[in-house]
Formats: sequence, structure tokens, C-alpha cells
Amino acid sequence: MPIQDLFAHNRAWAAQMERDRPGFFTGLIKQQTPKYMWIGCSDSRVPANQITGLEPGEVFVHRNVANLVVHSDLNALSAIQYAVDMLQVEHVMVVGHYGCGGVMAALNNVRVGLADNWIRHIQSVRDRHSDLLAALPEAQRGDALVDLNVIEQVVNVCVSTVMMDAWAKGQKTSVHGWAFGVHDGLLQDLHMTVTSTASIEPLYRAAIAGVVAERSAR
Ligand code: CO
Repeated sequence: MPIQDLFAHNRAWAAQMERDRPGFFTGLIKQQTPKYMWIGCSDSRVPANQITGLEPGEVFVHRNVANLVVHSDLNALSAIQYAVDMLQVEHVMVVGHYGCGGVMAALNNVRVGLADNWIRHIQSVRDRHSDLLAALPEAQRGDALVDLNVIEQVVNVCVSTVMMDAWAKGQKTSVHGWAFGVHDGLLQDLHMTVTSTASIEPLYRAAIAGVVAERSAR
């Protein structure tokens, strides 16, 4: 598609939105009040709004390679802080996807360049769960590492000062772990929905056990 077409499509989309919902864009000027924050992979096949049917104004999005939440990443932490403190989102979801290039590179020690240093965070997840992964059928290890990475990143969100402070103040925000199937377009709930600091540990153990049960059975 020539790049000029993007502008043509944009004008058609804006006109169609205004026809379907007169005043839609002027309504958005006032403020954004999304209930959701999406932390996903930059992968072009995983567009947050389209997958969930959410419209402009309904989901606050942060994406990076392999949906990581690194404790020293000011970019991700700033996005989370804005979403949780300022926008008061009700749900934060960390969304991985099967066939993730970053996760597969981490699993197979593939060198891709500068990004190796970022992917090293996924290798830490891999190494933490090396026994678990080794016990699975080889064909399941990639998908299992996608799941495990999501679960670990949910924990990283939950132990951030932003979430711990929000929960300490009594804020009702849930943090979820999901995985998207590029092959079927479906979201899977990894049963890692955390609503308090105290529940992180038991939910983490149960979610990891769930990955083992799910992946061993295939
Ligand atoms: Co990816």
C-alpha cells in the first residue's frame, strides 16, 4: 500500500466515524477516561483496539518488544503511573502473543543485535523456569515461555511502586495476564488476575502450575 493511501484511509475513517456517531471526535477533546490499560508487544499483528473492539478513548496503550515491564524502564513505568494514578484505570492487562519473535529469540539464543540486551530480560524468565520448560514437549516450550513471560510481567507491574501505592490507598485496579493467538485471533486468560499485593504470590504459583498443566497435556 502506498503511504499516501494511509491519509486517504484516515480521511475516510474520520468521515465514517462522524457519520455513524455525530460529535464523536469533539467528545474526545474534553478528556480521555479509559477503563483499561494494555501493555502489549509491538508486533504489528497484535493491535490492542481491534482485538478488543475498543474505540479511541477506551484503552491506554503501552507496547514494546515482547511486552516487558522492566523495573528501571522509565517509559513503561511512566505510562503505568499515568494510567493508574491519573486516569484511574480499572484494569491493566499484560498481553503476550504466541509466536512472539522476541520470546522465540530468547528461547533459542538467536542473536538479533542491540535488542539482545532487551531480550535478555526474557532469558531471565526462561532461566528461572528452565526445569519446567525442559520437562515440557519441545513443541510447547515457545508458547509456554510466552505464558510464563506474561505472568512474570504481571508480577513486575504488581510490585511496582505505582501499583503497591495504589492498592495501599484502596484503589480498585486489577492486573491481568493474557495471551493472544495470532493463528486464531483469540485472547486467552492466563488466570493471573491480581487485585492486591497480598494475593500476588498465591496467584503466581497457581498461574505457573496452570501453564504446566495446560502445556503438558498437549
Ligand atoms: Co511479540
